[in-house]
Amino acid sequence: MGTETALESRNYMGGFGNQFSTEAIPGALPQGRNSPQRAPHGLYAELISGSAFTTPRAENRRTWMYRFLPSAMHEEYRKFDHATWESGPFNDIETPANRFRWDPWPAPSRRTDFSQGIVTVAGNGSPEAQSGTAAHIYRINASMEDRYLLNADGELLVVPQSGALVIATELGVLDLAPGEIAVIPRGIHFKVDITGAEASGYVCENYGAPFRLPELGPIGSNGLANSRDFLTPVAAVEDASKEVTIIRKFLGRFWQGTQSHSPLNVAAWHGNLAPYKYDLARFMAIGTISFDHPDPSIYTVLTSPSTVHGVANCDFVIFPPRWLVAENTFRPPWFHRNVMSELMGLVRGVYDAKAEGFVPGGVSLHNCMLPHGPDAATFSNASTADLKPHKVDNTLAFMFESCHVYKLTRRSLEASNRQPTYDSVWKDFQRQPTRNR
Ligand code: FE2
Repeated sequence: MGTETALESRNYMGGFGNQFSTEAIPGALPQGRNSPQRAPHGLYAELISGSAFTTPRAENRRTWMYRFLPSAMHEEYRKFDHATWESGPFNDIETPANRFRWDPWPAPSRRTDFSQGIVTVAGNGSPEAQSGTAAHIYRINASMEDRYLLNADGELLVVPQSGALVIATELGVLDLAPGEIAVIPRGIHFKVDITGAEASGYVCENYGAPFRLPELGPIGSNGLANSRDFLTPVAAVEDASKEVTIIRKFLGRFWQGTQSHSPLNVAAWHGNLAPYKYDLARFMAIGTISFDHPDPSIYTVLTSPSTVHGVANCDFVIFPPRWLVAENTFRPPWFHRNVMSELMGLVRGVYDAKAEGFVPGGVSLHNCMLPHGPDAATFSNASTADLKPHKVDNTLAFMFESCHVYKLTRRSLEASNRQPTYDSVWKDFQRQPTRNR
């Protein structure tokens, strides 16, 4: 999985949400205080607060950076229009009460980097309310090079589907390959480079509370995504004196300005607000060893809580390779309706509720209370299958599941890659003959 194609040169620190300390230049971290009268090496001390100062300690996230120049040193920003990256409240069109599915989006016809190649499929909430999410895809064929992005609207969960990425951030560099995910906190400067000719994948832009590990309840102290497998990069300073462009996403709009130096000029940092990555092959899947198809919440990797206890602004859920052993059970997902809204993507392979039509790079959307479930072919096969132990292999589907209903963008409703006949996957069910009692 992920590590097969990742560059081997990076150093990471393990653990989810740890209080890390890291120096790219020895002695750059002040000792015993955060803001001495003169920081080591003449560096500027700068704090980034990812939570309110008064947030309870367990959820408080902040990082101290020690940098060559303060990030306040930039010119006035000017607004520009982004062609395809949209933001809440997503009220341009009425969202139909239908199920939706899309084939992969077409490759860009011109040079397109990560900041340009994000296409919004659907979303909910708004950056202003700091609640909700936006689901995007990206297809890119260029590196950002001297262009850097700062997203004030939310953190970005990046799910590569093809092609490796190098994500250089203020706090260090992440190599990322399909099968892995990365999370870039709100407000951190970063750029995305590609190592091959092109790359594609999915992005969840989380306007709400930062992603965290789910509670484990009766599962206990181990399992699902284990904390030690989350990797945060060590400090990696980019001391480049060059004219760079900073793109700032703020209240759903795009602004840009120039400055005389790279924003990634951080010689050392300490804190618990930092980017991280995770290899989804490390996820310890739990399932039934008796009967029935469990609720998919057992596959939650990360969760962004809403203000209602137990209800997620967004759950990031995966359907990884696993054994199915349930006896006298219809093993694929059941027919159902859900108050939560489900937006799915596929990194590789086949998803076990759909025999065909849902392909890697595609998206499906089953919104609040819209009936869905296995297609007719899947139902027929699973109803008659020999229920010996079966390995679901070479597959990786995922879901951005939200308590807020996903609203479509006009672009995704009118997209040529939207499947207009998606409803027909459920048209061939037959009424079974019933016996007189
Ligand atoms: Fe569902």
